[in-house]
Amino acid sequence: MRVAVAVSGRGSNLQALLDSLDPEASVVLVLSNRADAGALERARSRGIPTAVLNDPASAGEWLVPLEQAGANLLVLAGYLKLVPAEVVGKYRGRIINIHPALLPDFGGPGMYGGRVHQAVLASGATESGATVHLVDEAYDRGPILGQARVPVLPGDSVETLAHRVLEVEHRLLPAAVRAAARAGRPVPFSLSNS
Ligand code: GRF
Repeated sequence: MRVAVAVSGRGSNLQALLDSLDPEASVVLVLSNRADAGALERARSRGIPTAVLNDPASAGEWLVPLEQAGANLLVLAGYLKLVPAEVVGKYRGRIINIHPALLPDFGGPGMYGGRVHQAVLASGATESGATVHLVDEAYDRGPILGQARVPVLPGDSVETLAHRVLEVEHRLLPAAVRAAARAGRPVPFSLSNS
């Protein structure tokens, strides 16, 4: 599996992929809408080609490097904008996203970063977690492929909950990519048999 990863920030999920996929899948391209994303440095230090999306709404900016890299899976790992519909159409069923909550709750437009955990805490939920799902034209809406759960503990802050969720993200996302590599495309998976 030739994996392209889209990022907007520090790239700890990208790092989890880089540290654990080989030989089942290899990261062949990292795309970012931010030239200063720490994730790009992680890619460059491994010699992985990178592309900065100057206009992330322009399909061509995605499609040219994706095709050049021969990518057959696109992973959104902390990518905070919508993927252009033309890209979704071209790679339908081959784009996955990781979201730091148990979808279908606590997702959708504006639900990213600390806002997600803030909403979970405000709801009084006793569980949160992470979700990997197929990407369609809307934020956080495509079919769910796998989830991992963590408890919400008394006294949790946004930071403590985010940290607990991030730890399971770093196991869940590589498991999703390994399952996709075995099947030849993203498929439902569970952490226990990865
Ligand atoms: C993660 O919590 C991911 O689920 C969310 O954004 C965060 C990205 O973290 N979409 P990182 O850039 O992978 O460290």
